[in-house]
Amino acid sequence: MPRSASRSFSRMVRGVAARRSAHSWRSNLTYRSAGVTRRSSGSTGRTLGRSTPTVKDGGVTSRGSRSERRRLGAYYTPPALVDLLVREVLLPWCETSATPPFVIDPACGDGRLLEAAGRAITERYGIDPAPFLVGVELDDTTAAETERRLGCRVLRCDAREVLGAPEYSHAFDVVIGNPPYLSQLSTGTARGGSSRLGGGPYADVAAEFLALAPRLVRSPGGRVGLVLPMSVLATRDVAPIREAVERAARIDLCWWADESMFDANVRTCILGFVVGDSAVPNGVRRFHGPDARPIDPVRHEGLATASWGWLVADVVGIPPLAIGSGHGLLRDIAIATADFRDQYYGLVGAVGDDVDGPPLVTSGLIDVAQCRWGTRATRFAKVRYAAPRVDVSRLGSALQAWARTRLVPKVLVASQTKVIEAVVDERGEWLPSVPVISVVPHDAGDVWLAAAMLTSPVASAWIALQRIGTGLSAQAIRVTASDLAALPLPADRTAWKDASDSLQNGDVYGCGRHMIHAYGLAHRADLYDWWEQRVNGSRERSG
Ligand SMILES: C[S@@+](CC[C@H](N)C(=O)[O-])C[C@H]1O[C@@H](n2cnc3c(N)ncnc32)[C@H](O)[C@@H]1O
Repeated sequence: MPRSASRSFSRMVRGVAARRSAHSWRSNLTYRSAGVTRRSSGSTGRTLGRSTPTVKDGGVTSRGSRSERRRLGAYYTPPALVDLLVREVLLPWCETSATPPFVIDPACGDGRLLEAAGRAITERYGIDPAPFLVGVELDDTTAAETERRLGCRVLRCDAREVLGAPEYSHAFDVVIGNPPYLSQLSTGTARGGSSRLGGGPYADVAAEFLALAPRLVRSPGGRVGLVLPMSVLATRDVAPIREAVERAARIDLCWWADESMFDANVRTCILGFVVGDSAVPNGVRRFHGPDARPIDPVRHEGLATASWGWLVADVVGIPPLAIGSGHGLLRDIAIATADFRDQYYGLVGAVGDDVDGPPLVTSGLIDVAQCRWGTRATRFAKVRYAAPRVDVSRLGSALQAWARTRLVPKVLVASQTKVIEAVVDERGEWLPSVPVISVVPHDAGDVWLAAAMLTSPVASAWIALQRIGTGLSAQAIRVTASDLAALPLPADRTAWKDASDSLQNGDVYGCGRHMIHAYGLAHRADLYDWWEQRVNGSRERSG
């Protein structure tokens, strides 16, 4: 942003802040008394929203070419969610104040959220809302159109670069927005490296807006409401941002839908926060589904904390769970590793049904405690095989070295399933395909203990809570090597050993029951039932 624009914006922020304290805004405030020069036509004190919005398809799609919208993350908010944000984030703030809120949308697009906020402000305070509304928009044309249409200030810049400056710190009362979702896994939208606002390399750009928002509002009492990709609830690279936000604010509101609400293939949630307020009156207010119907509030009662999965766990159908790490973690007894493209491409050309060498085990061949190699066909590198083996002599020297590290006693874990599916390779005879995870115990004698832990109901529920919203569907558990490594060890070694014996004897359910004891959760029939049902479902599917 040009320096002059930045200065004029800061002046405007300071000016409105000063006017807020000097006036009683309940009096009939006009544009002129607020000291703002109108930029568009229309009479003083008009309500917003009479111009034609740049929206099609019931408010779900927006302007611009497909690639341009993808680059900007310009997928506009559907009306039901606009209403929810205004009703449940802005209006509660207004309930407590005789003066109108100063509202910012840091990624305002066509200004629909500001427009709705403006209408609510006019209704409550009887004033022209434009001086209280500020938008930020990266796209020049969109910013100019929105500024003209709403008559409020729209700053043309990258919100992440500008709003972190000290002059915007705590300058507003309410942040509402639907920031761009720009996946860091896609080359077209990747930022290239860690976020300067606190997240890791894979933190979506939307998470950077989440990091920024609480810093923009006054404390205590400022409110934030953002439409976000559901993955922010649990993605590991967003964890530092979640922690920072939780230190600054209380989660007050959560909405989500199981279906996509935008014409982008992404599941979304709305999170609302009250800044500088630690009181938890009735838990987090929750709304669910496309029609945002209210459902029971939820409290954070010592559940697994690395993610915000607890906000939705009961509805998604995952039992709540609290286990400590006081007895160590899986990484204390084993190394969990996922292989990547080097191994995948390195194996191409060395795999065949008619070659000699170790069996190649794909994710699709792994069921709960059963490896289907040789009895079920599978695909590798787009080719179907009945019983694929790897001719190790055809691998390059680096891949041969890799194969030697994998041909050891280990547990192989499938990547995305309803419960964790793990199989034991006791003699170290199989090679994993990508993206199978290898769990190699430091002591080969622990291989069944490691497998029992991974096969337990506790592990499945724990991983599901960590990673809620990051799998392909609401029900899928996305397993990563680092999550497995961080799985807490059970306290009761005797019950753990019983579980591993059961597993070794082919009794998966006995293993599950003993492991629940091993974690001191014998009273949790719900946990066992949840897991058993999923195990049965996955066994029925795989015949
Ligand atoms: C998901 S749309 C939301 C628009 C509108 N607030 C709504 O709720 O429908 C995100 C908007 O943010 C804009 N945008 C993308 N990156 C931005 C950035 N770094 N700073 C400010 N705006 C940005 C896009 O051009 C797009 O208009």
